[in-house]
Amino acid sequence: MLKFDFSNTLKENVTGGIKREEINSYENKINDILSLIDKERPGFVNIVFNRKWIDSVLDIKDFVHSFENLVVVGIGGSALGNIALQNTLRPSDWNYRSKEERNGFLRVFVIDNVDPDFVASVLDRIDIRKTLFNVISKSGSTAEAMANYLIIRGLLESYGLKPNKHIIFTTDPEKGVLRKIATSENIRTLDIPPEVGGRFSVLTCVGLVSAMAAGIDIEELYDGARTAYNRTIKESLWNNPGALIALIHYLHYLNGRNISVMMAYSNKLYYLADWYRQLWAESLGKAYSKDGKLINVGQTPVKALGAVDQHSQIQLYNEGPDDKIITFLKTEKFERDIKIPHVHNEESLNYLQGKYLSQLLNSELSGTESALAKNGRPSLKVIFPEINEFHVGEFFMYYELATAIAGELFNVNPYDQPGVELGKKITYALMGRPGFEKFNMKQDNQNG
Ligand code: PA5
Repeated sequence: MLKFDFSNTLKENVTGGIKREEINSYENKINDILSLIDKERPGFVNIVFNRKWIDSVLDIKDFVHSFENLVVVGIGGSALGNIALQNTLRPSDWNYRSKEERNGFLRVFVIDNVDPDFVASVLDRIDIRKTLFNVISKSGSTAEAMANYLIIRGLLESYGLKPNKHIIFTTDPEKGVLRKIATSENIRTLDIPPEVGGRFSVLTCVGLVSAMAAGIDIEELYDGARTAYNRTIKESLWNNPGALIALIHYLHYLNGRNISVMMAYSNKLYYLADWYRQLWAESLGKAYSKDGKLINVGQTPVKALGAVDQHSQIQLYNEGPDDKIITFLKTEKFERDIKIPHVHNEESLNYLQGKYLSQLLNSELSGTESALAKNGRPSLKVIFPEINEFHVGEFFMYYELATAIAGELFNVNPYDQPGVELGKKITYALMGRPGFEKFNMKQDNQNG
C-alpha cells in the first residue's frame, strides 16, 4: 500500500504547521463529507466497482494488438491520464524499443497540443499503416482534438486507408459529433460515462485503452483504486490519507499557502504531478461557491522534479514567500539502479563512490525536506514502495477523493469548469464556428 507522512505539516514539527487540535476540530465535518461521498458515489468512484469498463476495453484487445502504434488524440483530461500512465508505468525509452523488447505491446504516443511542429514530429515518426488512432473527446467538440482528428483522418485517406480500420472514438455514449460520425461510418467507439468529467476519467476507457495497449495491468490499477476508496471511506481521520490530503491543504490555504507544489523525486512519478496539476487547478479554482457567492478560491498547483529543481526552485521554496505547501513523491524502489563506480582516489569524491544513484536521490529528498522544515515550511510525503499499477491506481483514487473532499471544504463544485468552457467558446468564435458569434471578444472590443 502507498504510505503517507504528514508529520511535517504539523505545528509540533514545523513552525508553520497546523495544530493537531485544529485538524481534530474538522473530524465531524470530514465524516459528514465522507458519508455523503459514499452515499452519492461520484462517477469516478462507481467506475472502479463495475467491470463493465475493463470488459469493454478487453473486447477490443485483439483489434488493438493487431497494430504497432497507438496514437491518442485528445487534450486536457482526455490526454493527461494517458500521459501519466505511460510515463509512470513504462520505461522512458518505451517508444524507442523494438517490438521484441516491448514484448509485442504497442508504442503509445499522445497528441494533445495543436502545435504544428509537435504534431508533425509525432506523425513523421510512425508508420501510419501500422497505427491505430484513439480520438478521445467527451464533448466530441473540443477544437484541438477535432483539428488533430481531421489531420489524421486526412492522412489516412491520403494513404488510401479506411478510417474505420484505423480509428476508434472514445466519447459520450450519445452526444457529440464523434458519436454521429461513428454511427454513420461504423467506427468502433468506447463510452465515457457522462457523469465522469475529463480530469476524473483516467480509469475509464479514456486511460484504459492506451494502458492495455502498452501492457499495463489494468486490473491492478482498479484493485489499487478500490483499496484507496475503501480505506478513505472506512478509516478514521488520522489514518485516512485522502481526507488528510484535502484537509491539510485546505487549512494551509486558509493560512495563506495558496500554492501547492508536488515535487517528485523520480522522473516517472513526475508525470503524476502533471496529472495532479490539472485535477487540483481545474476542480478547485472557482469564482463562485455552491450557493452562488463570489469567492474566487483555489490553490495553484505547481509541479517540480527532484533533484533537478533543487537547483532551480528550492531557494524560493525555502526562503521566499511562505505561500506554499509541498508534497514530495518518493519511491523506495527504482526499477533499475546504478552503482557509482570507484574510479578516483580522490577524497572529495569518495563519499559518492560505491554508493547507488537511488541512495543519492532519496538523500536529496530527505535533505530538501529537512531544510524546508527548519525554515518552518510545511511538506508532506507520498511514498511508493515501488512504482507499479496497484500503487498508481491508489494514487489516482486518493487524489480524486481528496479533490472531491476539498471541493466540499472550499464549498465549490469540483466537477465543473466554466472558465475552461468559456475559453473553448471564444476559440470557436474566433475560428468562425457558427452559433458562437456572441463569444467573439475581439469583435466586442473593436465595437468599443
Ligand atoms: O477536465 C476537463 O473537463 C477538461 O480538461 C477536458 O478534459 C478537456 O477540456 C477536453 O474535453 P473533451 O474531452 O470534451 O474534448
